[in-house]
Order: sequence, then C-alpha cells, then structure tokens
Amino acid sequence: MTTRPDYSLLARQLDAILDTRDWLTNASQTAAFINMTVENLNWAGFYVQRQPQILHLGPFQGQPACHPIPFTKGVCGAAATERTTQRVADVHAFPGHIACDAASRSELVIPVLIEQDGQQVLWGVLDLDSPSPERFEEEDQAGIERLVEIFIASSDFDSVPV
Ligand code: SME
Repeated sequence: MTTRPDYSLLARQLDAILDTRDWLTNASQTAAFINMTVENLNWAGFYVQRQPQILHLGPFQGQPACHPIPFTKGVCGAAATERTTQRVADVHAFPGHIACDAASRSELVIPVLIEQDGQQVLWGVLDLDSPSPERFEEEDQAGIERLVEIFIASSDFDSVPV
C-alpha cells in the first residue's frame, strides 16, 4: 500500500527549500525532495531540452538513466511533444516506452513549460518512475504538477534552443 503524502504541505515545504533562483540548484533540490517525500518511486528527475527536440539527462535521484531521449521516443518524448502530462498505469502497454530500469512498471511525466520571448517553450520534463503498476493516481498527478509549478516560479532558466 502506498500512502499518499499531504501535497499541500509538500508544496509549502518545497517553496521554502527553493531559496535560490538557479534552475540547476532548484532542479536538484526538487528531485531529491520528491524522492524523499513521495513513496514507492525508483527514479525521480528531470530531462532538459538542451538541443532542439532532444531531452538531455538532468538532475535526478535513482539509477543511471537513458540519455539522450529524442522527442520521438518514450513516455518522456510523448510528454515533450504533446506538452501534456503522461500518466502511464502500465509501461509495458505503452508503445515505445524506454526501459532504463526493468523494474519500472508505471510512470508519471510532467512537461516543464516556461515563457521565452513571449512564447511558451518546453524547457524539459519531470519524470517519476515506480516499480508498482498503477502507482500514480489523479491526486498524485495534481499534487506533483503543483510542485512543478513551484519549481518553475522559483527558478530562472537558461534560454531554450528551439
Ligand atoms: N521510461 C522513460 C525513460 C526515462 S527513464 O525511465 C528514467 C521513457 O519511456 O521516456
């Protein structure tokens, strides 16, 4: 049984922890904080668009992971291309899922969109993996999306090469 954390408490705590404007520091702290406070994860971290249409491995907690990931591949690529959260109950049923760790069974990927030159651009994604199928419920999605909003509001970003 996975106990759901109090996401409104996590939001207040993350807001307090992110006390710089540096995205690298804040992304590292956010990945570590989520990994520590959200149960039943085997990977938590960011992929960053540092070349057009390609996701580079960013700050994370967990095993060494796949790098790079083109926008055409995997759950992360789908989140980046469609700019919508991908909540995948069973990764084995997701066409093109990239198995960095064979233990992963479900996945939540949230796009990180920032404003650049008056336009919304995809800076990267936050990827969470779990060894349990159907680990992520709607409430988890909403709670983690709120944490991503706090990460965005707290950070200054390098320009995205789009
Ligand atoms: N499973 C992801 C790749 C990233 S790793 O899980 C850390 C995907 O299909 O995009």
